[in-house]
Amino acid sequence: MQILQLTDPHLYGKASGNLRGVETDSSLRHVLDDALGPQAEHEAIHPCRYSAILVTGDVVQDDPSGYLRFKSILGRLQTQVLCIPGNHDEPDAMRHSLRGAPFEYCGTHPIGDWQFIMLDTCNPGHVGGRMTPGELARLDATLAASPAHAFVCMHHHPIAMGSRWLDDVGLANAEEFWGVIDAHPHVRGIAWGHVHQAYEGQRKGVRLFATPSTCAQFLPQSDRYALDSRPPAYRRFELRANGTIDSEVRWVDTMPLLQVATR
Ligand SMILES: [Fe+2]
Repeated sequence: MQILQLTDPHLYGKASGNLRGVETDSSLRHVLDDALGPQAEHEAIHPCRYSAILVTGDVVQDDPSGYLRFKSILGRLQTQVLCIPGNHDEPDAMRHSLRGAPFEYCGTHPIGDWQFIMLDTCNPGHVGGRMTPGELARLDATLAASPAHAFVCMHHHPIAMGSRWLDDVGLANAEEFWGVIDAHPHVRGIAWGHVHQAYEGQRKGVRLFATPSTCAQFLPQSDRYALDSRPPAYRRFELRANGTIDSEVRWVDTMPLLQVATR
């Protein structure tokens, strides 16, 4: 089963909106063209090789009118688009805007031999994340209820990325999160956004994946905020019935950065 992850598109209401030198609308479209093949404007429905698309937060850049843009770009896809909020999203507006197929907001979604658990890690008013007791309990109950291979998605990183400024805004109660994960050996993979860079690791047999943004990237291993000049990107997963995972990041360098901006 092939799965696509898109993260941190940071859309605005206007197509010309740009984040740190990248026009986020055209950047997302370029990424999708690479991942899916060019989408003809006249096609009512776009067929899709992926069994699901995971969108791990920061769909908009503090601008809820960006959700309409997101819907117009992905709304014709003939596959589920599973979405969770990030710190730049407005969860109520996002949930309201993304009602109806192909979109799903948070929740748990069984697909094939796997279940996708889409977590809300947003902590209102904070850049960093925190899981509420209710969300931790939902994760635990969901994992207890099904022996299917579990793939967990979240916006905030639950491990240190080796970058001091980013590690100050990760998942604040990561120990509680890992306490739940460690109790359920059928968790196979965990994927997140937020850090705008590629990372792969493993913890107690669980594969870990951070995925670069569909727009601008952060410089890995930097203690201070710094942009990376790498292009927009996305991640592909191959999830197998035996619980193993293959994955690769694809960088889409057909679109030059407009400029390298400083914060
Ligand atoms: Fe982001």
